[in-house]
Amino acid sequence: MSKTLVVSYLPNSQSVTKKVLDRFLKEAQGKTTVIHRDLLKSAPPVFNETSMTAYQLRGFMGQALSGDHAEAIKPFDTLIDEIAGVQNVVFAFPTHNWSEPGVVKTYIDAILQAGRTIMYDAQGKASGTLKNHKALVIFASGGVYEEGNPRRTIQNAFTFYLNAIGITDVTFAAAGGTLMGPEATEKAIQTANAIVDGFVKRVDQPAQASA
Ligand SMILES: Cc1cc2nc3c(=O)[nH]c(=O)nc-3n(C[C@H](O)[C@H](O)[C@H](O)COP(=O)(O)O)c2cc1C
Repeated sequence: MSKTLVVSYLPNSQSVTKKVLDRFLKEAQGKTTVIHRDLLKSAPPVFNETSMTAYQLRGFMGQALSGDHAEAIKPFDTLIDEIAGVQNVVFAFPTHNWSEPGVVKTYIDAILQAGRTIMYDAQGKASGTLKNHKALVIFASGGVYEEGNPRRTIQNAFTFYLNAIGITDVTFAAAGGTLMGPEATEKAIQTANAIVDGFVKRVDQPAQASA
């Protein structure tokens, strides 16, 4: 059975995103083993001078780390080992101020690391190491942002973030329009749930080369 890492940040007790994530968790039961990284309960590490030096020494200069540097990079490596050990990753977060909330970006900054999830060849060309992963990104937004709208930032950003670490099989379950009344919200949930159901169907299948 495959393993799925759920990375969530859901601070709203009435969260629409949570309703869609709950659909995933219900449908996925018995089909994949879920590991939950709740960013509300354990915040991802932020780089300080020591850990950033460690990252540069290891990631860009190929040096083995020791002492304070080895210690400082551990919380980052824990998150990388965790995501590297699964076949699927599901993100679930609200839209705040036209993007993913800052703590979610902090998680992304922790796992996008040269020398671990991004490798450079002799010509300096980057390639991601998580090539067999699939990703599902669940998020609600108050507005509806169609393709081409400059406020449609999350699809663009997560495509870049995940492609950088080798994940090209990326599915978005967006519940847009939650500030447009109960009917629009219900419709948004149904739309996102249908996308979630499609993802669950292939939770045990290999990643598509370029989804
Ligand atoms: C601090 C804050 C900032 C928000 N910024 C945006 C925004 O930029 N664009 C948008 O469409 N909705 C915005 N919203 C509305 C939320 O995206 C919407 O309520 C959504 O349902 C939140 O997801 P949740 O229901 O899972 O908490 C914002 C809400 C909050 C609380």
